Amino acid sequence: EKSGYKHFMLKEINEQPRAIRDTTLGRVSLDTGKVHLPEMQFSEADFRNASQITIAACGTSWHAGLAGKFMIERLARLPVEVDYASEYRYRDPIADPRAIGLLITQSGETADTLAAQAELAAKGSKTLAICNVVGAAITRKAQGTLTTNAGPEIGVASTKAFTAQLTALFVLALHLAQVRGTISDEESLHLVTELSKLPTKLASLLNINSPDAPGSSEGVAAPIRPSTPDRRSTTRQPLSVQCEELARLFHTADDFLFLGRGIHYPIALEGALKLKEISYIHAEGYPAGEMKHGPNALIDESLPVVCIATKDPNDPSSVLKYEKTLSNIQEVTARSGRVIAIAIEGDTEISQLVEQTIYIPQAPELLLPILEVVPLQLLAYHIAVRRGCDVDQPRNLAKSVTVE
Ligand code: F6R
Repeated sequence: EKSGYKHFMLKEINEQPRAIRDTTLGRVSLDTGKVHLPEMQFSEADFRNASQITIAACGTSWHAGLAGKFMIERLARLPVEVDYASEYRYRDPIADPRAIGLLITQSGETADTLAAQAELAAKGSKTLAICNVVGAAITRKAQGTLTTNAGPEIGVASTKAFTAQLTALFVLALHLAQVRGTISDEESLHLVTELSKLPTKLASLLNINSPDAPGSSEGVAAPIRPSTPDRRSTTRQPLSVQCEELARLFHTADDFLFLGRGIHYPIALEGALKLKEISYIHAEGYPAGEMKHGPNALIDESLPVVCIATKDPNDPSSVLKYEKTLSNIQEVTARSGRVIAIAIEGDTEISQLVEQTIYIPQAPELLLPILEVVPLQLLAYHIAVRRGCDVDQPRNLAKSVTVE
């Protein structure tokens, strides 16, 4: 069942190229860049005239929602609110029948998310579900469903369902932008083309065969070349080797910080959650620029700080964000914090500043999260394995949380 992998979590991490491909396929045209959503009880007019989108979700799915906000606001110029589903109905949300409720849930059975859906419906909003389980409770009450085709997720820690959610959110954001006329045909085609390259980029990051390669058998690990760490190197060693080495260095830490800015901040939150839930190490995700407003007081020579410092050189706002994040990294290293940077292949500026650099392939800003979360998943995995934790069945957690 685990196809030769030691844990479901590792198998599912390696299934991400296929999960992303299957969540994209059939929904986008590589000729025109147009997005086609499945049949649903939402008309184009509903999308065109929407006043806002209210996202409600829990845990990892909530992190996907936070990233989705950046995608939808940026591409479709539609305001997005993101709530914890477990909080939504306790704040007497403001009614608006033109608002669209978007529920994100792997299982489709999370009690808090179902309760948020009921509250949205009671306020007169139509609801749309992004769900990984066909026919799940949430989809039966929603006016539309976008299925994430990640396949069954067995490991309690969500991995492939998360990147599939990010993919579905990107596809939805593109569709909204097209219907609302906030994106050019040329930009649509560019983004769809870039989206279609992700499975191959993920496979190369994971050192496995691409699901798109002719005759490839999915999830089969390519032979891993032994390599010596070289912090000045601009190319990658196999990611699993790097993450195992990081796990060796850092598995005894008591705390971890994860930093990111903009759309990368939700990925920092997700990296921290993965580590907490499977290794039982305390971890926090923080917006990089907020460190100087308090948390800098925590930094000392024993604190590993994972900084997401990626950039899309074709996107001025991404470059600006990167520059600011570099200054934040310098603030951490000046206080002897031990920085592990997630950066774009070829970035030598960053590797000279920090102790460890993990490289990922280049992609447009809004698609980078799908790549940058992978090393964070593997880091949590290898640390948990080293600490002897039950990776697939962490203590106190269940795969589907059916109580509020
Ligand atoms: C984290 C994790 C949980 C779930 C959360 C929501 O790895 O698995 O945080 O993301 O319980 O579950 P779903 O998406 O099924 O609603």
